[in-house]
Amino acid sequence: MNYKNSKFYIENIPVKKLVRSFQTPFYCYSKSRLNENIKNFNKNFEKTKPLICFSVKSNSNSKLLKIIKNNGLGADVVSLGELQKALKVGFKPSKIVFSGVGKTMSELDFAIKKKILLINVESESELKNIISLSKNKKSLVNVGIRLNPNVNAQTIGKISTGRMQDKFGLAFKDAIKIIDKYKNSNSVRFKCLSVHIGSQILSNVPYQKMMRVVNSFLEKVSVNFEYIDFGGGMGIDYANKKKFDFKKLALEINKFSKRNECKIILEPGRSIIGNTAVLISKVIYIKENLKKDFIILDAGMNDLIRPALYNAEHMIIPANKSNKKSKKEYDFVGPICETSDRFLKMKKFQKLNEGDIVILKDVGAYGYVLSSNYNVRPMPKEVMVDRSKTQVINKRQSIKDLI
Ligand code: LLP
Repeated sequence: MNYKNSKFYIENIPVKKLVRSFQTPFYCYSKSRLNENIKNFNKNFEKTKPLICFSVKSNSNSKLLKIIKNNGLGADVVSLGELQKALKVGFKPSKIVFSGVGKTMSELDFAIKKKILLINVESESELKNIISLSKNKKSLVNVGIRLNPNVNAQTIGKISTGRMQDKFGLAFKDAIKIIDKYKNSNSVRFKCLSVHIGSQILSNVPYQKMMRVVNSFLEKVSVNFEYIDFGGGMGIDYANKKKFDFKKLALEINKFSKRNECKIILEPGRSIIGNTAVLISKVIYIKENLKKDFIILDAGMNDLIRPALYNAEHMIIPANKSNKKSKKEYDFVGPICETSDRFLKMKKFQKLNEGDIVILKDVGAYGYVLSSNYNVRPMPKEVMVDRSKTQVINKRQSIKDLI
């Protein structure tokens, strides 16, 4: 995805051409970027060869999941719907892990029936439910214990998961107690210790701290885990600011796995899918105001909620670069009746006109999956480009569907 002769291309197709075929706003993915990301991820961790379970919550498009599965990855799911989708796409149960603080009896029952690799347990009550279900089935269920390592991931508070005040996982002492209490159960086997400290993490320091906590946990606990699941969270470079150092993390994880003689699971979402897509949108109106100029787009917070929800910054670029020198300061907003329906303020943007096409970058993770029908607006289409071919991988809802 890049400019050629001032025109933005997704693989071999200029955005302007895509807009002639598809009504804006729509998500557009690059298949080769997705394949490349997976290849790079594997390469970074080639020494450890972890089981990489793609975090389905970050993007659950079936066509994309199929590509991910065909690259040999497993799936990390957090609901019955995600689990069923992953199975339908063809992920092997032996490569599926199930996390989440609120798994219901019917979700647990289904997961046990399907004999997935792991259910990552987040409370004693959940473990008791698993035991009672497995007793009925006379089966031995493989579980992971999710530890809350009390580590600050140094990311946005709303996407931190590994601090004591966060709802996820079991506290150090509680996890030890529970393992001691149930380690001889005939119904569950503690196969894994799992941690996940947050998302969009850009520093290695929180991972190092997390590994130190896990190491001291392993010294105190009375079982040997076959797997350690370090979750996901590796951040991407949204605003040309900072890149996550994968090589460093890979080195440390490799050291860890050798020292502890265990297999590793990783659950990346954003780092696999985040930069594979853009949201293509049209300028409906330009509203010049005493204070600033608003660019009113046809995409709104129902199409991409990350800026409104987390103050996330998705860079905005023009589909066609102009060679004119004049630059403006613009506030890019959506059409929805909420002040928070606002994407980004950009200084020194090329002068835009109504009808121009702009591109919101890096929307592949937590983009479409968080879209909604707010204001009775149909959810956008998803399109994938594979070299010179386009494929609609999710059709746009129609207003009729919503009425
Ligand atoms: N594993 C578990 C248990 C998780 O809870 C998550 C994400 C992941 C893996 C994948 O994390 P990733 O590699 O994608 O950072 N909606 C927010 C992000 C929420 C993340 C939730 N958990 C956003 O748009 O930034």
